[in-house]
Amino acid sequence: MNKLCVLVMAAGKGTRMKSAAPKVLQPVLDHSIIDYVINNILSCGVSPSDIAVLVGSGGDQVQAHLQKNFPGDLNILWQHEQKGTGHAVKTAQDFWSSYENLIVLNGDVPLMTQESLEKLIESVQTSDNDCTVISFVTENPGAYGRILREKDSVSIIEFKDASEEIRKIQEVNAGCYAFRVKPLEKIIDLIQNNNVQKEYYLTDALSIMNNHGMKTGAFILPEEEMQGINTQAELAAAGRVMRKRIINHWLGEGVRMLDPESVYISPDSELAPDVVIMPGVQIWGKSKIRQGAYIGSGSILKNASIGENVQIIAYAVIEDSELKNNSKAGPFCYIRDNSCLEEKAFAGKFVELKNSHIGENSKVPHLSYMGDATLGHDVNIGAGSITCNYDGKNKNKTFIGDNCFVGSDTMFVAPAKLEDGAATAAGSVITQTVPENSLAVARARQTNIQGWSLLHNQLIKNSKNS
Ligand code: UD1
Ligand code: CA
Repeated sequence: MNKLCVLVMAAGKGTRMKSAAPKVLQPVLDHSIIDYVINNILSCGVSPSDIAVLVGSGGDQVQAHLQKNFPGDLNILWQHEQKGTGHAVKTAQDFWSSYENLIVLNGDVPLMTQESLEKLIESVQTSDNDCTVISFVTENPGAYGRILREKDSVSIIEFKDASEEIRKIQEVNAGCYAFRVKPLEKIIDLIQNNNVQKEYYLTDALSIMNNHGMKTGAFILPEEEMQGINTQAELAAAGRVMRKRIINHWLGEGVRMLDPESVYISPDSELAPDVVIMPGVQIWGKSKIRQGAYIGSGSILKNASIGENVQIIAYAVIEDSELKNNSKAGPFCYIRDNSCLEEKAFAGKFVELKNSHIGENSKVPHLSYMGDATLGHDVNIGAGSITCNYDGKNKNKTFIGDNCFVGSDTMFVAPAKLEDGAATAAGSVITQTVPENSLAVARARQTNIQGWSLLHNQLIKNSKNS
């Protein structure tokens, strides 16, 4: 017999969020609420096949999300009608009845730490309780279930069913429980719905257990990590807690931040010591920032790989792209879709790179668009040059060899090619391959019209007089 399984209750409607999306898919930073809960369980060493998530309201979306983000053998169970948390646990009985111990977690408590969940899991060994529940003490007990402690037992009274006296209690139920399966099975069918909400409350299991001479207990954890998410305000508050936790972690790892309060870093990003983060920076997805990199103000990175000593001057947006060691970007550039700056390359002011590879020591300093382009090493792209990579149907490629010099305002009508050492004259429209070490001049010749200004001024004067 397997010892322990975990049931995550995520079938509820989340009415108070007032959102079309299911509550557990709402984001805290760039992860969904449910991701934190499941990642935490996995970090405690519970195998996916011993975890079940109960879905219902918006269940198709939750199921699709879980299947995309977590290993295949995570169990997804359905509670088609949501009749309360007691009904939820009953619905999953076939899953947990073959185990010795059952951990039940509300799916809307994402801030619980690994240490705390481990403590709950260990409680099945360290105490002889048939049910242990986690509580927290709060100044604002709001709608949480109140913890009623008696000499050797604990019970929970839901807010809506509580008297004024009981509502004053500041120790509340966090919605995380450890049950011994055998005693739970004996009483689960005794949970009734004769309460204000006409729901089957899991919290009633405790008083029923007490009445059957079973043992119940509670231990207190910090409010900050045990608060549930029921409203947009609570979602925002959870985001603030998670943000601060991640920021403090990276400060502890030697990252320097001028204004930590203004910085966002996703849970899956990794930073090295001596990285400098300026105010207003956001780092999302699975970004990796290596030693000595400088991320200037207002920059937004998502799945960005940033090499050692890279300088991002300010206001760069970098998505799904790589900046190798000692390369440089910004201010005001957009680097996206698998672009790469090789070592010591540079993408500067008002430059967009899309699916483009900029070779070592090559520079795209001003006002350029490079789309589907490959540049060799030591290339210089003059200001205002662009690839015309889209013909209305296909995206076509541009190749620029090593040591090329591209004059300002060159248009590369792709597919286009400059062989090594080639150059273009300013204002050229390149439609044919430029051979090695050649200069392409592809623009209209200049014509000077003598005396034009005098004639022009006379015409203006005449029109004013008439
Ligand atoms: C619940 C507790 C309350 C506790 C609080 C802590 C009960 C009766 N009350 O209240 O004592 O203080 O959590 O955050 O348990 N769910 C289902 N199926 C259902 C109903 C709920 O899966 O039929 C899921 C929800 O998706 C949610 C969790 O269970 O993740 C808790 O439900 P919710 O309605 O948020 O309970 P609370 O009113 O917050
Ligand atoms: Ca809740």
